[in-house]
Amino acid sequence: MTQTARFPTTLTRSPKPRQPDSALAFGKTFTDHMFLMDYEEGKGWHDPRIVPYGPLSMDPATTVLHYAQAVFDGLKAYRGADGTIRLFRAQRHAERLGKSCAGLCIPPIPADLVRQSFEAIVGVDHDWVPRTEGTSLYIRPTVIATDVMLGVHPSHSYTYFVICSPVGAYYKEGVKPVRILATDTHVRAVQGGLGESKAAANYAASLSAQQEAERQGFTQVLWLDGVERRWIDEVGTMNIMMKIGDEVVTPPLAGTILDGVTRNSILTLLRDWGHNVSERRVSIEEVMQAGREGKLTEMWGTGTAAVVSPVGELGYKGDRISIGNGGTGELTQKLYDSIIGIQYGRLPDAHGWMSTV
Ligand code: COI
Repeated sequence: MTQTARFPTTLTRSPKPRQPDSALAFGKTFTDHMFLMDYEEGKGWHDPRIVPYGPLSMDPATTVLHYAQAVFDGLKAYRGADGTIRLFRAQRHAERLGKSCAGLCIPPIPADLVRQSFEAIVGVDHDWVPRTEGTSLYIRPTVIATDVMLGVHPSHSYTYFVICSPVGAYYKEGVKPVRILATDTHVRAVQGGLGESKAAANYAASLSAQQEAERQGFTQVLWLDGVERRWIDEVGTMNIMMKIGDEVVTPPLAGTILDGVTRNSILTLLRDWGHNVSERRVSIEEVMQAGREGKLTEMWGTGTAAVVSPVGELGYKGDRISIGNGGTGELTQKLYDSIIGIQYGRLPDAHGWMSTV
């Protein structure tokens, strides 16, 4: 047993072989260690520790396996050209995990402790942060309900764990436009539901629509609201933005949408640059019409995994429109380059988003 800055640490005796950076995909290989912490009523969150990466042993009646009382988050560590490892907006991710916990009756973990857990696990597994431009270490904090019971009520015990995965560039040949399908047959979230939380259940709810979109030749689903089925919410697992005329539009955080960290960062940059930015409701009819009139010049998704994902084509009720020239728009590319530049320490970090490990 050795001691890192803050947490008891048991180092692995059998480090895993590494893949070359060129072979890295998304979330398929994991580092040598993980962060663990437990919660019990009366004791609160306790026993934070770093241990060798490995399976969690669980009774088949553990409540998370039945009723999905689980939340997670996702952020990345980047190695700059000078070798410095930086986390992107770690505190904001830690705070968002707390909000997700609140949405599922999970006792919140103090945000500072969550941030320290990110720093600690990346510190122990620092050699796993890949070195090639475009690669990073994806950090996945997760909280699961661990009571052994089949009654439907909030668990009295939980496990928090953080695992890390070295990941390759999301787009191996540079940013590549995707084709998206607006669905009015499936919904992701409704007001009063889990849409604002990064709940595991939201991702389960997205699977059949995603499968249907792929069957029709599209890459991702454009989610519409669950009541009128016309107001745009999100795209795939990302927030959505578009340029209509000289206005950059994104749906507001009004109860069904995840408060994306990349979304917030991009809105900040756009406002810094003097763009006309609106967080307002935007309907699928308005977007299709703008597309037909040539006013919809760019559309992109924002998320931690892809950063910025341009949309080249949009389908809805059998209609298809091409966005801009179907390639990556100028503003989309500029946003991608700017965020990536900050993350790798090449561009000034004017808002203090990066923290070194
Ligand atoms: C992201 O875009 O960062 C996501 O949330 C995707 C993740 C669920 C793989």
